[in-house]
Amino acid sequence: MSYFSIAIDGPAGAGKSTIAKQIARRLGFIYVDTGAMYRAMALYFLRRQIDASDNENIEKHCDGINITIEYMDGEQIVLLNGENVNGLIRTEEVGNMASAVSVNKTVRLKLVELQRQLARKNNVIMDGRDIGTYVLPDADLKIYLTASSKVRAMRRYKELKEKGIEADITIIEQDIIERDRRDMNREFAPLRQAEDAIYLDSSDMAIDEVVDYIIGLYNNKKDN
Ligand code: DC
Repeated sequence: MSYFSIAIDGPAGAGKSTIAKQIARRLGFIYVDTGAMYRAMALYFLRRQIDASDNENIEKHCDGINITIEYMDGEQIVLLNGENVNGLIRTEEVGNMASAVSVNKTVRLKLVELQRQLARKNNVIMDGRDIGTYVLPDADLKIYLTASSKVRAMRRYKELKEKGIEADITIIEQDIIERDRRDMNREFAPLRQAEDAIYLDSSDMAIDEVVDYIIGLYNNKKDN
């Protein structure tokens, strides 16, 4: 049996995970959040106070890290050496560390096989930075989802505000720009649009509009 795979790549804060989750629910696919896997590895390094630029130390520790995932009521649970770390990986600190350590090829290769395995055994919608270009180059449908850094910073600011966290929007935007720069310019599997990916700028689109548009693309593809 062959499975359908949808790859969604794009920069931080473009809305990939919100949109992918909704599409997964509507299509009955599993949602694979690859950023969460990099975040779990980042948490491991942060806990041990390993510097993101200390490649030798990072590579030495990679063998001792086991990342697995489970699904609970459709939600992806990331296990770091058996510990559920979902509640610990959503901070800016972990996100920035994930961006920094994911530059390392050994870190990336550790996670790519797990990601490919999931796509071999399930209908998946997988989001990240290198899904359409490297992890699943033969994905059935590829989307490059982006939005202006201003809009992405504003969305993040509102999200934090709703949680009662005060933040400076200028700093959030600077962080986003720095993260884009690093994710797009690393040597191995950088963020870029795959040649056969559909470019979608969500700056002026509502979430539902983006979801409906991608489901429309899926319906066209699956019938062909
Ligand atoms: O999507 P996110 O914010 O959870 O991802 C955190 C970081 O992980 C991101 O800045 C870069 C890295 N990442 C990656 O390099 N490749 C992926 N497929 C997913 C995330």
